[in-house]
Amino acid sequence: MTNPETILVAVAWPYANARIHAGNLTGAYLPADIFARFHRLKGNRVLMVSGSDAHGTPVTVRAETEGVTPYDVYRRFHDGFLEVLQKTGLHYDLFTTTHTRNHFTVSQDIFLALKDNGYLYTEKQKQWYAPSQKRFLPDRYVEGTCYICGYENARGDQCDGCGNLLDATLLINPRSKIDGSTPELRETEHFYLDLGKLQDEVVAFLKERENYWRPNVLRQSLGQILAEGLRGRPITRDLEWGIEVPVDGWEDKRLYVWFEAVIGYLSAPVEWSEIIGRPDAWQEWWFNPDAKTYYFIGKDNIPFHAVIWPAQLIGAGTRFGELFAGEKDKRLTLPYDVPANEFMNLEGKKISGSRNWVVDVLDFLERYDPDPLRYYLTVNMPESKDTDWDWEDFYNRNNGELVATWGNLANRVLSFAYKHWEGRVPDPGELRPVDEEILAKVEAGFEDVGGRLEKVQLRAALSEAMRLASEVNKYLDTTGPWFEIKQDKAQAAKTIYTAMRCIDSLKVLFSPFLPFTSEKLHAYLGYTTPLFGSQVVETRRDDLGEHTALRYVPGEASGRWEPSRLQPGQTFQKPRPLFRKLDHAIVEEERGRLGK
Ligand code: MF3
Ligand code: ZN
Repeated sequence: MTNPETILVAVAWPYANARIHAGNLTGAYLPADIFARFHRLKGNRVLMVSGSDAHGTPVTVRAETEGVTPYDVYRRFHDGFLEVLQKTGLHYDLFTTTHTRNHFTVSQDIFLALKDNGYLYTEKQKQWYAPSQKRFLPDRYVEGTCYICGYENARGDQCDGCGNLLDATLLINPRSKIDGSTPELRETEHFYLDLGKLQDEVVAFLKERENYWRPNVLRQSLGQILAEGLRGRPITRDLEWGIEVPVDGWEDKRLYVWFEAVIGYLSAPVEWSEIIGRPDAWQEWWFNPDAKTYYFIGKDNIPFHAVIWPAQLIGAGTRFGELFAGEKDKRLTLPYDVPANEFMNLEGKKISGSRNWVVDVLDFLERYDPDPLRYYLTVNMPESKDTDWDWEDFYNRNNGELVATWGNLANRVLSFAYKHWEGRVPDPGELRPVDEEILAKVEAGFEDVGGRLEKVQLRAALSEAMRLASEVNKYLDTTGPWFEIKQDKAQAAKTIYTAMRCIDSLKVLFSPFLPFTSEKLHAYLGYTTPLFGSQVVETRRDDLGEHTALRYVPGEASGRWEPSRLQPGQTFQKPRPLFRKLDHAIVEEERGRLGK
């Protein structure tokens, strides 16, 4: 085997202020899991990390509305995330949170490295201050009349009347969203990341990746920089909730949530290394120029991952290693790819949790199984343009593809074999050309499906696997084992043996996409060790509180990305159907739930 590759699968950190819906899954979390499972099957060294994005105004606004603490909000949604990730089989090596002492320390060291290297500066700006509460208001907390269109309920950051991004300080008749009081403009000082100074290096970094990045990602990174240039951005805020700025006299300020959340891609591996008892293990991904790091995100996150995060990493230079790990001359690995997805809509309209125009994942799983969800979200993944979840289409794909093409193939072959060969794989003797031909076709899938997975073309990869399942169905139509058995059992044995080997291979080809049913089928086929490992939930404490994390443990995982070697005589179990056929009534039922 070739040398294993070292791969970091970095997945967007969900804000701990809303439930996870189908659009979030298909945008980032599911593609990451499919990609990570594939690389684990290939025997590569994979680390997949993420966690709850616990800080920032999304969380504090919600806390304020509900009259609870930001910590409570973050904990509640974080617990919900862990449930979704377990039930949908998202195998993070570590799904943690930004609210840990470890993350605070790593973030502060990145900040200090940037500061020591001269990439931070401070600047004073005017901002709304609420005397009633004795504090500065984030832009989103101020409402007033839009100075562009006159709309009276414009938010400080953006106007819903005309859609423009606003300069909050120019709002007319401003009022605090919290208590309606009138704020005043006061001067405040912030740290800025000097992106202008880093521009040349960021452009060079992007140009090296120009020939393989997705066009939408290049447009929002290289394209924009070449058109508009980079300017400094403030990376601190006047807030209480979040990570302290590690500079004397800055006790009232916090690091901006986007500055620190992305640092989770580095701090989570550090935490994971600590947990597994090899505290330096993270360096195999982070201090290794050959490691490949992939960032799975939605399109709204592109500038932060494709421009600002690389700038943070370049700017931290070798100083971070010195500060944090006592290592000289070690640079942090820059992103290899940022395969950002577009959005998924629902029945032709934008998904909205607050208007209940949504497929809520936990709610969905009350009525359906996880693999049909994963399947539908993959065939419809918004890889190059926005897509639409349509319940009629979900119904058709489930019954026509999962049930009719793949599930029935596995079920009828295994049931038939079980009945006629007493639960042992039949001995085929010498194979016929027709058998060799279908085996070769399916085995080529390991290259064809695998090649697409490697390029993060997941829709194409899955449709190729499904095409191969159809080929096996055609092979059975041609050979007709149900008739052969009546005339010449030896011929039927050749067909059924061949079909079982194909199914055993297809099981692996489908497994990154459909892990639950592939695992079942694997057991029906008589294997006693699982394809994949499992997830554990662990709670740890530090001075910031208690936090619960989800961790993948490989255990006895024995799945390999290679063709079946099913042996004649091997015992197997009586199978059960892998997928459930749905009644057409669900289409109207589900549509009826929307928007209520
Ligand atoms: N919380 C952000 C969102 O939900 C994503 C943050 S990704 C991170 O859009 F890396 F910055 F954490
Ligand atoms: Zn306006």
